[in-house]
Amino acid sequence: MNNTELQTKGSREQFKTRFGFIMAVAGSAVGLGNIWRFPYITGVHGGGAFVIIYLVSIFIIGATIALTEMAIGRHGGSDVVEAYGQYDKRFRIPGFLSMIAVTVLMSFYNIIGGWSIYYFIQIISGKFTGISSGEVESIFGNFIVNSPRVAIFTIIFLAVNTIVIVKGITEGIERVSSIVMPALFVLLIVLVIRSLTLPGAKEGVIWYLKPDFSKVTGSTIVAAVGQAFFTLSLGSGAMATYASYLSKDESLPKATYSVVITDTLVALLAGLAILPAVFAFGVSPGEGPGLVFVTLPSIFGKIPFGAFFGAMFFAFFFFAALTSSISMLEVSVTYLIEKKRWREKKRPLL
Ligand code: TRP
Repeated sequence: MNNTELQTKGSREQFKTRFGFIMAVAGSAVGLGNIWRFPYITGVHGGGAFVIIYLVSIFIIGATIALTEMAIGRHGGSDVVEAYGQYDKRFRIPGFLSMIAVTVLMSFYNIIGGWSIYYFIQIISGKFTGISSGEVESIFGNFIVNSPRVAIFTIIFLAVNTIVIVKGITEGIERVSSIVMPALFVLLIVLVIRSLTLPGAKEGVIWYLKPDFSKVTGSTIVAAVGQAFFTLSLGSGAMATYASYLSKDESLPKATYSVVITDTLVALLAGLAILPAVFAFGVSPGEGPGLVFVTLPSIFGKIPFGAFFGAMFFAFFFFAALTSSISMLEVSVTYLIEKKRWREKKRPLL
């Protein structure tokens, strides 16, 4: 390594606190997977029985790979391509592939992030109050085919991402994550309490968590391991990239397990926020966009202060999407900064 290279490495920003790092990584981990996928697959694959298999998957397989990815990233002290390439130039290829994967993922995440802003505005202005499920469905149907409108909200979402990224690791990512993640957690707790106190909520808890080992099959294991990989943002360079900004004095295992615990807690609580409400209204549970943008808004339209709780839900959803999407964008931004020396021009030096 020559002198200028050393200087560049020396000028890399670092997360200021362990808390900030954990919040940023947890922000990446906590995303749509926790909200619209985990609760549903848990219910379908045998509730408590699935939770046990999931815990084993995430704590043994997921955490180990997350730790490895972060160790590689921190040791590389650069972007994801360089991180893998430090061992062998040919390993730059998987580095590139993860960057491509995360960019593809980002393209859909930003659209959904934009939807959540639109829904936040709609729900808080009472648009869903007292209307029928059919009407909620047609609002959704009409919105997603309205390309200019969707584009505007996607751009707004991307703009927020960009502002955070431009501010850099500590002033942008660390600061935003340290505020947004605790806020997300508080919103989630309130939503769980609201949902669990609805009449008929118990049914949902039973569907969600009652252990049923007869539902455990080979595909359950695949679902559990797959969810553990997805939710920990593995193989997409986000973990390696964030860890490259972590001081070598910090313990990676401690940070990893804190993230895994936070992420799992949010996933479990998300199910308790969503499913009891769904069952209280006798609606069948589902996953994905239909659950978040049709089923839930129609429930919020029916409960007292639904606009208020609905706004809380979409703020929660927006925060989860934002902190994930920031980490996606940071993967390629870090790559460009390292390759093109953009750091000196665009982002504040330490
Ligand atoms: N962890 C995110 C979620 O649960 C999804 C995700 C997968 C991700 N790979 C990523 C997020 C890379 C950020 C970066 O929804």
